[in-house]
Amino acid sequence: MATSSMKSIPMAIPSFSMCHKLELLKEGKSKGQEDHEGLSYEFQEMLDSLPKERGWRTRYLYLFQGFWCQAKEIQAIMSFQKHFQSLPNDVVLATIPKSGTTWLKALAFTILNRHRFDPVSLSSDHPLLTSNPHDLVPFFEYKLYANGDVPNLSSLASPRTFATHIPFGSLMDSIEKPGVKVVYLCRNPFDTFISSWHYINNIKSESVSPVLLDEAFDLYCRGVIGFGPFWEHMLGYWRESLKRPEKVLFLKYEDLKEDIETNLKKLSSFLGLPFTEEEERKGVVKAIADLCSFENLKKLEVNKSNKSIKNFENRFLFRKGEVSDWVNYLSPSQVERLSALVDDKLGGSGLTFSLS
Ligand code: A3P
Repeated sequence: MATSSMKSIPMAIPSFSMCHKLELLKEGKSKGQEDHEGLSYEFQEMLDSLPKERGWRTRYLYLFQGFWCQAKEIQAIMSFQKHFQSLPNDVVLATIPKSGTTWLKALAFTILNRHRFDPVSLSSDHPLLTSNPHDLVPFFEYKLYANGDVPNLSSLASPRTFATHIPFGSLMDSIEKPGVKVVYLCRNPFDTFISSWHYINNIKSESVSPVLLDEAFDLYCRGVIGFGPFWEHMLGYWRESLKRPEKVLFLKYEDLKEDIETNLKKLSSFLGLPFTEEEERKGVVKAIADLCSFENLKKLEVNKSNKSIKNFENRFLFRKGEVSDWVNYLSPSQVERLSALVDDKLGGSGLTFSLS
């Protein structure tokens, strides 16, 4: 679909001698470059034409279409942009990593499927009891189009529900069809940073050295994090939600924590399936909130032992699930730096976070 985005993908191929290419591959492998395995020479050459910075989990992050991204995800996004065909009822859940993606997937799946799987009577066949939310709502870039695959999506039940971390600017051509709806979940950048730092250090392979908090913080403030800069990611969806509220619903993690039922109603109405009075009387809204709560999901066996995204253990997806855990980690000077950055980048946009 994304013909115009495809045109903007930098395809300059620098001249490399075969010897240089082999050195590059050898060097990558020896430093734990599993992330480059299986990529073609042509693709690696294209990567080499992009600006790069030290990665958090992989050796490098590349600046691709204006955002920072790992090699394999770039390959997947290119395949997605080329091949994905949206349908009018599609639902796309979008986040920057560690903003509550898992929670949003659980909520949206349960709302959309509540007539098939009743959250109130909650029989043991409810998919959320035996599957991680990432298995119920697949990512474009980590799952469906991973490795440059072109999946057959014709058998998916309607409304097809997908998830992505792709910034709005690189997603929009693929979801332009009327009726496609996007739900964006945003989280305050302080907690998102701390959550990312913990997660990366939990899932990284042993051959990669841990990323220290100070170093990660500096990268984060320079915008260097997967799918970042975070402020551009947020603002892309924020502005679109103001321009086209019927197309993009903008939610905040902190608001969901404060009042999940009001936000569930908002989400349900946006998805075209508002709760009826009878459902409200029967306690459907509360049942969905309880089923998808951090405490409930974290204790399920499937979320303790299985692996759903790439080869990462599900248990790392459920850490604390709190607002303001950052106060336990950031120094006063770091708080000052990030606060100033947030003011500078988001000031005047109308997008604000309460940090208490
Ligand atoms: P913390 O690391 O602060 O605990 P993502 O799903 O985008 O990877 O985000 C992960 C963050 O969301 C983690 O935050 C995780 O604990 C939290 N989380 C996961 N499931 C949740 C839920 N059902 N409710 C609230 N927070 C949840």
